Amino acid sequence: MPEDIQAIERDALERLAQAGDEAALQRWHDEFLGRRAGRLSGILRQLGSLPIEERRTVGSAANEAKARLEAAYEARQEELRRARVEATIRTGRLDVTLPGRRPPRGRLHPITQTMRDLLAALTELGFQIVEGPEVESDYYNFEMLRIPQDHPARDMWDTLWLDPMPGGPWSAAQGRASQTSNAGRHSMLLRTHTSPNQIRVMEKFQPPIRLAVPGKCYRKEAVDATHEWQLTQIEGLAVDENVTLADLKGTLGELARRMFGAERKIMLRLAYFPFVEPGVEMAVDCFVCNGGGCSMCKGTGWIEVLGAGMVHPEVLAGVGYDPERYTGFAWGLGVERFALLRYGIDDIRHFYSNDLRFLEQF
Ligand code: DAH
Repeated sequence: MPEDIQAIERDALERLAQAGDEAALQRWHDEFLGRRAGRLSGILRQLGSLPIEERRTVGSAANEAKARLEAAYEARQEELRRARVEATIRTGRLDVTLPGRRPPRGRLHPITQTMRDLLAALTELGFQIVEGPEVESDYYNFEMLRIPQDHPARDMWDTLWLDPMPGGPWSAAQGRASQTSNAGRHSMLLRTHTSPNQIRVMEKFQPPIRLAVPGKCYRKEAVDATHEWQLTQIEGLAVDENVTLADLKGTLGELARRMFGAERKIMLRLAYFPFVEPGVEMAVDCFVCNGGGCSMCKGTGWIEVLGAGMVHPEVLAGVGYDPERYTGFAWGLGVERFALLRYGIDDIRHFYSNDLRFLEQF
C-alpha cells in the first residue's frame, strides 16, 4: 500500500509540472486530491478495511503525501499566476513617451454662439427672454399684426401652411406642412417670424414690457446664398409710457455696437411693416471697409441688420392697451444674418449643411 502512495505522489508531481493553466490545474486537483474521486482520498477512505497495524502507517503516509501535494499544488498555482502577470506586463507594455490621442472636442454651432451672445447682450440691456410656439395660428402670425387675409402684405412672408386633420385637434405632430397658399382654408402654419409673440406677450402682461423672444421660423423660400427655408430670429418688444423712436435707436445701436464693435455707426431707414408705424430698417456702417464701400456691403458702405419700428397703435389697441397712454418699439432680427456678418461668411447654406470642415472653424 505505501508503494501505491509513493507511486501516486510521483505520478501527481510529474503531472503537476505539466499543468499549464488554471483549468489544467483544477483537473489535476480533482484527480488527485478531490474529496470524492481523488486517488489519495480513495486510499484514505479504504483505511477501514486494512488490518489494524497497517492502518496507522498507511494513514499517516497518505496524509503526509496529501499535505505535500496540497503544498505543491499551491506553489504551482502561484507560479502560474506570476507567469500570467509577467506575460501581461511583457505584451501590454506601455510606451509612455507616445503622444496621447486627442479626444475630439465638441463646440457650439456658430448660430448657437451668436444667439447666446445676442441674448446675453439683451439681458444686460434689461430684456427678459421668453419663448413661443413654432406651430402658430393665422390669428397671431398675421391677423393681430394688421396683416388680414388677402392683404398684399402677406406676400412678404412665403408661408408653410398646415393642413387641418379631419376630426383631430391641432398639433405639430398631426399637422402636415403644405405648399398651397392660404385661400381661407387653413388657419395654422409654421410661424414665418417671431412677431406673433408680441401679441402673445401683450395679451398676458401689462406694461412696462421689455422682452426678447428667440426662435426658429419657417418660410417657403427658394434656398440660395442668403435665404434658407428655416431661419432663427430674435423678436424684441418694449412698451411703456413715453417710449420713443429715440429709445429704439439707442437700444438697437447699443446692441449693434456690442455685436460688431464699439465704433460702429448706425443708420435707420424707413421701411414698411404692417405692425409698426413708422417702420425702419437698421444698418451699421460696414466693419470691413468702415463705410468706404466693399464687397461685404456691396459698395454701399452700410450693412442692413434688422427690421424694427414703433408698435402700431392699432396693434396696441388690439390687445387692450390704451394707445394714448402707451407706446412701444419692436424689432425682429435674423440670427443667421448676424452670424454671417460677424464671421464674414458668404453663404447662409453652410450653417445647416452639417459639414464638419465648416463647423470645426468656430
Ligand atoms: N417680423 C419681421 C420679419 O420677419 C421683422 C420685423 C420688422 C419685426 C419690424 C418687428 C418689426 O418687430 O417691428 O420680416
